[in-house]
Amino acid sequence: MTHAPHFPADFAWGVATSAFQIEGAAYEDGKGPSIWDKFCEDPTNIKDQSDGLIACDHYHRYREDVEIIASLGLDTYRFSMAWARVQPEGKGAWNEAGFAFYERLLDALDEKKIAAHLTLYHWDLPQALQDEGGWLARSTAYYFADYAREVARRFGHRVASIATHNEPWCTANLGHGNAQFAPGVADAKSAIQVSHHLLLSHGLAMTAMRELNVPAQLGIVLNQWTADPATDSQADRDMAELEYACSVQWFMDPIFKGHYPELALRAHGDKAPIIYPGDMQVIQQKIDFLGVNYYFRAFCSAENPPRSAPAVHGVTDMGWEIYPQGLTELLLALKAEYTLPPIYITENGMASADQLEHGKIADEQRIAYVRDHLSALAAAMEQGVEVRGYFLWSLLDNFEWNSGYSKRFGIVHVDYATQKRTLKDSALWYRDYCQQQRDVK
Ligand code: NOJ
Repeated sequence: MTHAPHFPADFAWGVATSAFQIEGAAYEDGKGPSIWDKFCEDPTNIKDQSDGLIACDHYHRYREDVEIIASLGLDTYRFSMAWARVQPEGKGAWNEAGFAFYERLLDALDEKKIAAHLTLYHWDLPQALQDEGGWLARSTAYYFADYAREVARRFGHRVASIATHNEPWCTANLGHGNAQFAPGVADAKSAIQVSHHLLLSHGLAMTAMRELNVPAQLGIVLNQWTADPATDSQADRDMAELEYACSVQWFMDPIFKGHYPELALRAHGDKAPIIYPGDMQVIQQKIDFLGVNYYFRAFCSAENPPRSAPAVHGVTDMGWEIYPQGLTELLLALKAEYTLPPIYITENGMASADQLEHGKIADEQRIAYVRDHLSALAAAMEQGVEVRGYFLWSLLDNFEWNSGYSKRFGIVHVDYATQKRTLKDSALWYRDYCQQQRDVK
């Protein structure tokens, strides 16, 4: 049996969620529609034809959910704010009733001494802004900065951190490249332009929030993977290099180096983004932390049909290869290439087809997944990567985007008919794991 690694005494142990995936209350207390509300209206977009109207009803059950986090002994919680809840049109009037919800949530977290890590944008753009072009319109980046400023003004003293974006790669490529996600656009050139506007909006928001001098740490959350060639062939190696350039480096280079990666720019050709003078300086500014979401690696095969990943640790219910060592490799690659701020693993976890049997959910595969990824994380930290915390995705089973409720990522099971929460074995295991980490000190 391998021993659990030891993490630093002040390491943050948490869970993560996002607004659209858990809140529900889609039109309550003045909330405006978001692009995901709209996207779900076409049932062909979502695997189980579901929507986010009720989701986990967290808007009404946040107290119970905070109690659960506290009962697991966790000291950190990552969640996102629904922009259309606090500013229904994405510009103009603020919705006080919307802000009041987040006040209540923060009060509940405070009571339990749970540090709040807030994400401003987890994919639910106000539909009113989509009607004006959404992220394809440069103006959206400026509206986003206004929203960021207001949130930082109100909450910058109450939260431990504010992340501008969650996984902008997904917004660009799944939202605008292949129409899997809202707003459902399938156009490669648009996706690339959107990625630039997202980065620009990150930079503008950072500037706006910095001016307020708030104590919250400011940063961004990126989904990242290593890209491994399936074989040693030149074609596979080229493919892997290009994949890494178009994903990880496409977002990291502008922030840390002030330019897009040359290889990716060349590959994009006439689809390369329109960049205004000064944009790259806005994007390249100091961030206090980098959030890394890690789920799998990219396995790159130029053959037809492509070779599939060996998946020696199995695959998840999403069909994603389980590849813990990729987390070590990714973090070491980042450290080798960039001057990094402290990192948080802002998401990691897996979907499994969990069954509730006699009041119990035996999700051993998830326990192994988290345990192995924590060992992989510790290995990177031993080699000098500075990581401050880990957020398991997710606290609750929730609305898994175009998979609807058919994929369960929670360490807490949700019965959507009754909204009953039941701790899975992984929740109890995670509680004990974190407890042991504290006890060793
Ligand atoms: C990353 C996203 O941020 C989150 O919303 C999603 O549920 C998980 N990946 C799992 O797919």
